[in-house]
Amino acid sequence: MTGPEPQDATDATDATGATEPTGATEPTEPTEPTEPTEPTDHAGSAGSDVILVLSGPNLDLLGSREPEIYGADTLERHIERAREVAASNGFGVEHLQSNHEGDLIDAIHGARDRCAAIVINAAAFTHYAWGIHDALAAYQGPVVEVHLSNPASREPWRASSVVAPVATGCVAGFGGLGYEMAVQAAARLVREGAAR
Ligand code: DQA
Repeated sequence: MTGPEPQDATDATDATGATEPTGATEPTEPTEPTEPTEPTDHAGSAGSDVILVLSGPNLDLLGSREPEIYGADTLERHIERAREVAASNGFGVEHLQSNHEGDLIDAIHGARDRCAAIVINAAAFTHYAWGIHDALAAYQGPVVEVHLSNPASREPWRASSVVAPVATGCVAGFGGLGYEMAVQAAARLVREGAAR
């Protein structure tokens, strides 16, 4: 699946509604901010407007799985909100949840030279799946690690992450806000042309 079509590349209005400085000496009429309805083209890591969001094992059970830790929202709901945040930043979201490490690795490979950024909640794979670490190391764009809980404040084995060394940054402990915040961060990183 690919993201929605980019807008006309000649449109000088960016996703925030800001306009390019004109350099004109005469004061000009202020431009009305536009509400972006379609993703806008970016000079992102791959010139892409797609953010790949990956969810690891057991996250398909969100909503019924240990709600006192992970909250009551389903994964679909998290992704729905993440899509809204992405769209308001001019991006589309491609999402994969899998309980199998190889599926996530294949998806990371597929994002190379294709997706602008990766947001990943590797769930329990976070703590030992070096194959995911290596796949992310071979991906050129920004990587945002996300966790609904704060693994560092839980059992000691959750304190280490194999994703962290190959991530641009991490959002953890903000429950239902996590995916949204991670997508917002990814969009900003792409827009700013941040290197990992
Ligand atoms: C998690 C934290 C992990 O330690 C755990 O194995 C998960 C979910 C989180 O989102 O808080 O499955 O990644």
